Amino acid sequence: MPSPYYQPEFKQHIQEGGHRDAIGGLWDEMGRLQLEFLKAQGLQPYHRLMDIGCGPLRFGCLAVDFLDARNYYGVDISEELLDIGYNNELTDRQRERLPRSHLAATDQFDLRYLQDTKLDMAIAQSVFTHLPMNHIRHCLKRLAPHMKTGCPLFATFLHCPDHHDVTEPLTQPVSPDKELAVTSYDIRDPYHYTLEDLEYCTRDTAWRFQMIGDWGHPRGQKMAGFFYEG
Ligand SMILES: C[S@@+](CC[C@H](N)C(=O)[O-])C[C@H]1O[C@@H](n2cnc3c(N)ncnc32)[C@H](O)[C@@H]1O
Repeated sequence: MPSPYYQPEFKQHIQEGGHRDAIGGLWDEMGRLQLEFLKAQGLQPYHRLMDIGCGPLRFGCLAVDFLDARNYYGVDISEELLDIGYNNELTDRQRERLPRSHLAATDQFDLRYLQDTKLDMAIAQSVFTHLPMNHIRHCLKRLAPHMKTGCPLFATFLHCPDHHDVTEPLTQPVSPDKELAVTSYDIRDPYHYTLEDLEYCTRDTAWRFQMIGDWGHPRGQKMAGFFYEG
């Protein structure tokens, strides 16, 4: 089953004001969690940051204030989400710090709009959970030429541990709020992956995969680090 982000009903829902809901709600919590995580990993205001699958800027709203002006970049499959985020979720002052041209719609991780800009860090939060494995590999390959050497992409994913049959649905372990429990799958969205799967996506690339693990995600998504060593 393809990701809901490809479905026509999705477009209608966000046009009717459901954009926060459409990306999973938890607006303040998930924005803050991402900023705190990246700061703990060394994010500095002078860094250039790419937010892959940035959606309507749940994290972008906070990142734009933290980073120096013009240092936030985002891409998403949905131009509508980018427009709603830029026009409705940012203040005038934030829009002055973030040119609209730093946000681009692409369904194939086409980052050529960055031209010669090199990135210090990237994040893909709750994006790989919607992607088949070959799209993850595609994302890594397309991002690589735009990264500075040694710099990371942090990507969240639903983990399938070795003891679980990957072909079977998996109820992800979550914190006390069982309402947030997610069931993940091998061949439909939301996808789960083994560590070997993610490692495999880096084969023949300059990315080095490192499992980071729990980072406080309320729906149990784990964090993976991909370090660009090209
Ligand atoms: C759950 S939302 C997360 C949004 C954002 N990362 C956050 O944490 O607020 C998933 C986002 O990934 C985007 N997305 C899904 N498939 C994509 C693809 N192939 N390329 C780029 N973005 C994609 C969706 O449009 C959506 O905005």
